[in-house]
Amino acid sequence: MKQSDLLNHGSIKEALSPNSIEHISKLIVLDEVDSTNSLLIRELNEGNGPVLVCVAKQQTAGRGRSGKVWHSPLSKNIYLSLSWEYKVPSNKIEGLSLAIGIVILNVLADFGYSNLKLKWPNDILYDGAKLAGILVELIGDSRSSLRIITGIGINISMSVTAGSAIGRPWTDLSSIRGQSPPSRNELLAMLINRLIDFFAFYPEKGFVCWQNSWNARDSCIGKNIQIVSNNQIQTGISRGVDSNGRLILETPEDLLYITAGDVSLRECAK
Ligand code: BTN
Repeated sequence: MKQSDLLNHGSIKEALSPNSIEHISKLIVLDEVDSTNSLLIRELNEGNGPVLVCVAKQQTAGRGRSGKVWHSPLSKNIYLSLSWEYKVPSNKIEGLSLAIGIVILNVLADFGYSNLKLKWPNDILYDGAKLAGILVELIGDSRSSLRIITGIGINISMSVTAGSAIGRPWTDLSSIRGQSPPSRNELLAMLINRLIDFFAFYPEKGFVCWQNSWNARDSCIGKNIQIVSNNQIQTGISRGVDSNGRLILETPEDLLYITAGDVSLRECAK
């Protein structure tokens, strides 16, 4: 591993924008943690925040959506969490977790990775294989404030052995371009900068500003899909997302508007 690719507090901080520096209460860089999201939840519950950032070299209990495990070996991946606090009604942040997918795609495109796709609600794919995932969690009393923890896992360089535990097709940045991936410190700083700009304006703009970009990068639009929820399967054609980020499923009878939550989408690949 090149020296420049070792996760380093100073190198990340150096590449943060003045706006990010101004917002971030604490930047935590760890060798190991159970889960960067869980750590931020503990920090927030202890009264720290509101804007905390945690990155780790490995996670011993990395968490994915719907209670799944996020395999987080010590390799050259990214495990990042960032917290934010809003004092707006929750309907103002509908679709936020989907829009974060676009923020990540835009950052990766700036590093030369342009053919990436989204799979509703939160997967980032390359050629049908999962490259990155997003886990957004809310804590606290949503009537007075919304505290949001956004966790992002991006496979940068993962050995076949380390990835063998993942029970689905996966890829990493190293395999996509067949050349050295970007420095993680630079990539992390860019992600943090863009996320902070994004969070500052999201409620003002809303998902409607992201809807077209999202649908343009949707890997499933126009394809047959299955939505699985509580062991029930609904089949139809994906018509992309609406202005609130709900998935539009065209069934023979009706158009259904599906909200994320504990729903998973099957059957759509590239
Ligand atoms: C998914 O696709 O299921 C979401 C994966 C989210 C993984 C990231 S890694 C950093 C943060 N900490 C966690 O425990 N999970 C998220």
